Amino acid sequence: MSKNQPSVEDDEAMPQVSVVTKRFKRLRVVFEPSLGVLGFFLVGLCLVFSFFYLDYRTVAKTKSHDFSDQSERFLWLKELDGFVENNTKVGFLEESGSGCNVFDGKWVWDESYPLYQSKDCTFLDEGFRCTEFGRPDLFYTKWRWQPNHCDLPRFDAKLMLEKLRNKRLVFVGDSIGRNQWESLLCMLSSAIRNKNLVYEVNNRPITKHMGFFVFRFHDYNCTVEYYRAPFLVLQSRPPKGYPEKVKTTLKLETMDWTADKWRDADILVFNTGHWWNYEKTIRGGCYFQVGEKVRMRMKIEHAHRRAMKTVMRWIQEEVDSNKTQVFFRTFAPVHFRGGDWRTGGTCHMETLPDFGVTLVPPETWEHIKLLQDVLSSSLYYSKRSEAVKLKVLNITAMAAQRNDGHPSLYYLGSAGPAPIRRQDCSHWCLPGVPDSWNELLYALFLKHEGYSRSNNGDTDNFT
Ligand SMILES: *[C@@H]1O[C@H](CO)[C@@H](O)[C@H](O)[C@H]1NC(C)=O
Ligand SMILES: *[C@@H]1O[C@H](CO)[C@@H](O)[C@H](O)[C@H]1NC(C)=O
Ligand SMILES: *[C@@H]1O[C@H](CO)[C@@H](O)[C@H](O)[C@H]1NC(C)=O
Ligand SMILES: *[C@@H]1O[C@H](CO)[C@@H](O)[C@H](O)[C@H]1NC(C)=O
Repeated sequence: MSKNQPSVEDDEAMPQVSVVTKRFKRLRVVFEPSLGVLGFFLVGLCLVFSFFYLDYRTVAKTKSHDFSDQSERFLWLKELDGFVENNTKVGFLEESGSGCNVFDGKWVWDESYPLYQSKDCTFLDEGFRCTEFGRPDLFYTKWRWQPNHCDLPRFDAKLMLEKLRNKRLVFVGDSIGRNQWESLLCMLSSAIRNKNLVYEVNNRPITKHMGFFVFRFHDYNCTVEYYRAPFLVLQSRPPKGYPEKVKTTLKLETMDWTADKWRDADILVFNTGHWWNYEKTIRGGCYFQVGEKVRMRMKIEHAHRRAMKTVMRWIQEEVDSNKTQVFFRTFAPVHFRGGDWRTGGTCHMETLPDFGVTLVPPETWEHIKLLQDVLSSSLYYSKRSEAVKLKVLNITAMAAQRNDGHPSLYYLGSAGPAPIRRQDCSHWCLPGVPDSWNELLYALFLKHEGYSRSNNGDTDNFT
C-alpha cells in the first residue's frame, strides 16, 4: 500500500496544476476530520465547564452548613457503584465474617493506596522498582482487593509486627515468592522509623541468585525469611550410570535441602509453578528421579503432581500444626501478549486491569486444577476438620485480572528500559499486586490468632 503512495519526488514530476489541486485535496483531508474533532472538543469543554459550575454551586451551598456534606455527590456515585448490592459488609475478622471467601471479589480503585513507596523501602531489588526506573503510569498502584461478601481489615504494620513478636515467617518458593516476600518486608518496615533496626542477619544484600535471606525486625525479635526452592523438592546430582545429558535430577520424593531450616517456622508460605515446564527442566538437563531411578520419559505435569504430593505429605508428617500455620499460595499468572518471554511477548501497554480475564494463558487454570486434585486426593487436607494443616492463598483469579501489574520494560533498574521484545510480564511491580496477597495473608493470620474487632474494642481499623 504505502509503496503506491506518491512521494515528494513524484509530486514534483507532475504538471503544476495537478500538484496544486492535489495539495489542496490533501489539506482538506487533514482539515475536515479536525473540524469534527474541534466541534466535539468545544461541546466537551462546555459540558466540563457546566459540571464545574454546578460543582462550585454545590460546594458554595454546603460550605455554609458543614463541609463534611461535600461528599454528597460522592455518595451518589457510590450508590450507583453498589446499585442493588449492599455496600455495608461484615468485617472478615468478625465472627459472622468467618465463612467469607476472601478470594472471591473484585479490584476497586482506592486513592489511599499504595501502602508504601518503593523509594522508602531499601529491601526491594531493582527489578520490582518499576516507577523509579521509568514506568510512566501509576494507576497500577491504586487498586485494592475487595471481597464480595465481607470487608478485609486495613493492613496495620504495627499490629502485624506485634503479632509476629518472637516469631518466624518464612516464604519458600520461586522468584514470585521472593516478589511477595519483598512486598511484605516493605509493608512491615513502613512502620519502623529507624530502618537500621531491620537487617539481614548475615549481612547479605538481596540478589536474585542467593539461596536464602533472613531479615530481622530487631524491636520485635521476629524474622521474615525467604528460601529459594523453585520446585520445593530437592534438585541434586543424578545417580551414576545415566546418559551425560542428565545433568541434575529433581528427587520427587524428597523436600528441598533447606527444609530443615524452616520446618519450625511459625508461618510458612509456599509457592511453586513457574519452573514446572520444559524450558526450566528437561531442556537444561534436569530430569525426574523417583527412588534411585531417573525416569527419562516422565511427563512434567506428572512430576509436578508427584512433587506436590511429597510437599503435602511432608506438611502432614513434619510440621507441628500446633505451632506452625501453613499457607500455599496458588500460581500467579503471566501476561505476555503476542508471544511468551522468549518470543517477544509484551505487556508494556497495559495500564488498566482486565476485568474480563482474557489475557492469561490457559496453563494458569491447569495449575489450579493440579493443586485442587492433590488437595482433594490428599488425606492431609480437609475442609471440615478442625486441624486443617494448610490454607490456600487462592490468588490465581485475582492476579489474572492484573495484566497491568508487571514490570514489562522496567525491570533492569539503572540499566534503563529493556528492549521491547525482552519484557518481564511474570514478576510484579512493587508497590503492587503482591501487596494484596499479603493483605490477605494478614487477614487470615489475624483470624487464626483469634484477633477480632469484638474482643479488641475499637482499636481495629476497618476500611
Ligand atoms: C446492609 O447490610 C447491613 C449489614 O449486613 C444491614 O444491617 C443493613 O440492613 C443492610 N441494608 C440493606 C438496605 O439491605
Ligand atoms: C526471639 O525469638 C526466638 C524465636 O524466634 C526465641 O527463641 C527467643 O527466645 C526470642 N528472644 C527474646 C529475647 O525474646
Ligand atoms: C496440639 O495441642 C493439643 C492440645 O493442646 C494436643 O492435644 C496435641 O497433642 C498437640 N499436637 C501435637 C502434634 O503436638
Ligand atoms: C481457587 O479459586 C478457583 C476460582 O477462582 C477455584 O476454581 C478453585 O477451586 C479454588 N481452589 C481452592 C483450593 O480453593
